[in-house]
Amino acid sequence: MNTKLTLLGGLTVNEFLRDYWQKKPLLIRQAVPGFKGLLDPRQLIGLACRNDVQARLATYQRRQWKLRYEPFEPVDFEGLSRKGKWSVLVQGVNHLLPQGADLVKQFNFIPHARLDDLMVSYAPKGGGVGPHFDAYDVFLVQGLGHRRWQISTQKDQTLVEGAPLRLLKDFKVEQEWVLEAGDMLYLPPHCAHNGIAEDDCMTYSIGFRTPWYQELAEQFLVYLQDRIEIAGTYADPDLKAQKHPSEIGDDMLQQVGRAIRKVRWDDEDVANFLGCYLSEPKPHIFFAAPSKPMPQDRFDRAVRTRGAKLDLKTQMLCRTGTVFVNGDAHQVGKGSYTALRGLADARSLPPSEKYPREAASLLYQWYLDGYLTPGAR
Ligand code: SIN
Ligand code: CO
Repeated sequence: MNTKLTLLGGLTVNEFLRDYWQKKPLLIRQAVPGFKGLLDPRQLIGLACRNDVQARLATYQRRQWKLRYEPFEPVDFEGLSRKGKWSVLVQGVNHLLPQGADLVKQFNFIPHARLDDLMVSYAPKGGGVGPHFDAYDVFLVQGLGHRRWQISTQKDQTLVEGAPLRLLKDFKVEQEWVLEAGDMLYLPPHCAHNGIAEDDCMTYSIGFRTPWYQELAEQFLVYLQDRIEIAGTYADPDLKAQKHPSEIGDDMLQQVGRAIRKVRWDDEDVANFLGCYLSEPKPHIFFAAPSKPMPQDRFDRAVRTRGAKLDLKTQMLCRTGTVFVNGDAHQVGKGSYTALRGLADARSLPPSEKYPREAASLLYQWYLDGYLTPGAR
């Protein structure tokens, strides 16, 4: 945490978190030296056409923005360059490419609970998605070509009415830079920005979510509904005749109010909810179970000699004795917790003499579910 990092332009993690994270933008020239990008535009369009991928196509024609979501077919991208400015954006590239997961790993100094995904965009000269702001912290790493980033810390966040993209009505550029391969721009949430492709241009966005409290609270109530236990039934042995039978009486109101106030939760509930909610894969994500799974003893030997690695799509979090994998919680003993937390931190397990039996049987279960495989990366 106190080592100067090239990725952060010579700042330590602690300095970056103290002075920039969630506070102000930071441009870092050659944050990822030698970075040339991980795929070419044709390969990105190939990913956009997969049926297990979320993608968007933004086009700007005749002074109008249009936005289309997946599913896409290759023909959707044919002849686009002749029609004006456009950009294709593909989400979750860290779930599709090992090199994408490796790029995201460089940002391990931010908790995994905050990570959204790696989005990759391609735009020909002049393309982009227009001036806007996001509810995200984002590290924008330039790959192919050059992108002009214009930013503003303006308070006015009025949007263009009726536009399919959330475009800022009055974007006042305060600073701008042209980024080339390996350069990186960090933007805190709500910092207005506009990225314009200077030539054939690909940008790699490592995004960190900042969930709305409203969404968290609604989802927490969903979590809680399966866990509350309030004993008893409504009773009114002292019922008095009412002048208006259609009115809800005070006694009923008070009695039900007292019962509902018995709904209780503690930090453990909040932790369990957060672990399950934040590790839940997005709805389009599916795992492929092994077609001919090996029996547990062979699997154990394979993990002991070769280690294990999480599937690129697996999301794993943990907290004090509980590990959360793809939306499920597992409470484990101390030794297992230490081993499984190592797996969650590094997304892989080194070969080892032996893992506690509880950890070994969870690993085997996750192997059967397609959440991990034996072998190193
Ligand atoms: C991009 O076009 O690569 C980034 C889009 C954004 O500004 O969020
Ligand atoms: Co943005």
